[in-house]
Amino acid sequence: MYHKFDVVIVGAGGAGLMAAMQLPNASVAVLTKVYPTRSHTGAAQGGVAAALGNQEEDHWKWHMYDTVKGGDYLVDQPAAEILAREAIDAVYELEHRGLPFNRTEDGRIDQRRFGGHTRNFGEGPVRRACYAADRTGHMILQTMYQNAVKNQVNFFNEFLVLDLLINDGVVCGVVALQIRTGEIHTFHGKAVLFATGGYGRAWRVTSNAFACMGDGMAIAYRRGIPLQDMEMYQFHPTGIYKVGVLLSEAARGEGGKILNGKGEYFMERYMPTLKDLAPRDIVSRCIVQEINDGNGVDGKDYVYLDVRHLGAKKIAEKLPDITDFARNYLGVEPITEPVPIQPTAHYAMGGIPTDIDARVVIDSQRTPLPGFYAAGEVACVSVHGANRLGTNSLVDLIVFGRRAGKHIASFIAENDHVTLPPQHEDYSRQLVDKLYSSTGGESAARIRSELQNEMNDNVFVERNERGLSHALDTIDGLRDAYQGIQLQDKGKNFNTELVEAIELGFLLECSEATIHGAKARKESRGAHYRLDYQKRDDVNWLKHTLAYKGTKAHDVRLEYKDVILIDDPIFKPKERKY
Ligand code: FUM
Repeated sequence: MYHKFDVVIVGAGGAGLMAAMQLPNASVAVLTKVYPTRSHTGAAQGGVAAALGNQEEDHWKWHMYDTVKGGDYLVDQPAAEILAREAIDAVYELEHRGLPFNRTEDGRIDQRRFGGHTRNFGEGPVRRACYAADRTGHMILQTMYQNAVKNQVNFFNEFLVLDLLINDGVVCGVVALQIRTGEIHTFHGKAVLFATGGYGRAWRVTSNAFACMGDGMAIAYRRGIPLQDMEMYQFHPTGIYKVGVLLSEAARGEGGKILNGKGEYFMERYMPTLKDLAPRDIVSRCIVQEINDGNGVDGKDYVYLDVRHLGAKKIAEKLPDITDFARNYLGVEPITEPVPIQPTAHYAMGGIPTDIDARVVIDSQRTPLPGFYAAGEVACVSVHGANRLGTNSLVDLIVFGRRAGKHIASFIAENDHVTLPPQHEDYSRQLVDKLYSSTGGESAARIRSELQNEMNDNVFVERNERGLSHALDTIDGLRDAYQGIQLQDKGKNFNTELVEAIELGFLLECSEATIHGAKARKESRGAHYRLDYQKRDDVNWLKHTLAYKGTKAHDVRLEYKDVILIDDPIFKPKERKY
């Protein structure tokens, strides 16, 4: 089946919908493999940062500074400036579109503390996160979806994208599987935006929804586009023990504390100024250190998040969702009991490289691939560097989703549809047919589970050469095993076994790029902490990794690209102290 639109957006989370909002005069298709309001943006809890200064003095430059320093200086600084400056206007745009933020006494948007966000270039925590209780992402998603429906955006729900179409060096569409019918569809557009989110499902313990399988990253990678800084993967400190579901940093922003098995408030010891409002990479590392030192609860691999002292009223007002999660998933009552937590795979700082207008750039010279855009977690505009600050993901998707939409509007005004490449559905049809016809006897569930265990064991908060080599061997073996996946269900309608097998292929691509990047980067920076190279090494490693899919099986080619710094001494890379 063939569809023609001006713009094809893949992904109906915050970035995709924010872009769609900027295109009122274009025909826009939004493809999503879930129902739009189930997109993973809805899982973001604690807030969206913007230096509004509603609670105390704040400035966009302080926000930029925190972002650059929090990212351990692997941040492209002009992009961080845009993030911090435009966050303010983007948050007001959300407010004007109807987002029900919590309010101050005098009716302005309320703001709370969050990890790594400070006043006056690191002096102490600042209240910068604008929030709607502990369901800020959910509210963003609902608000934008309502606006998109009002603007008559064309939604194609439950479509799994399989391929990106490029003809003569210009992106001109995608091919997708309609999950309900099993049919293959072509979407022809003047521009394509990927806003497909991350790949947290590569780990066993993760905050990510089942949909977060790395679709967009893997599809681009298969088409020769590099993935940038994939070794920079964030582990959020407070995931529900074993389950991984997020307990927002807002709990600590409101005064909650992380305690070890002896009841000690150990972050006071590691980070005297910011304590457990230090950036996430640091807090996660401190938790792992406590566990390694035998200070986990009962000597096990978890510690506690304690909000008891906040009192039932504040908990109900400010943290209603996450306290319910603790009740429902663990049977723990946070008003009277501390909640077992452990670091959980949360967010990809890396992804498809883009410039500040969300155009995909494909080499170390930052050459754009015409017609192709990416925004949100799938993209790497490099505002998060080696470690993202909490609440900056929502900022990223509203600021760069908006910039994507605006740039696309001018691109489609100046360019016509490019002809589709010959036999443009062949690759996708073969991919699906191969899975239907295979008799290899292998199961996608088994491969996925082995992958997730390996990533949790060896590509986690702490890494070393031996573990990464082990992970690489495992991935190579799993990629071979993948060729033998055999479906039990040969049906066409809602074949979730087929969908999961295709998604597993995406997950393997993303994991492969992650491990190769991590193994090559012989330093510690942000979320990439190597026990065998514990120091940051700006002389050799102040550079972005670009991972290209090689031509042979298991082959990955790594190249590197400069980090963009600005000429201001305050942003010069220095030791990261808090
Ligand atoms: O802790 C949180 O509420 C997560 C927010 C984020 O990842 O930005």
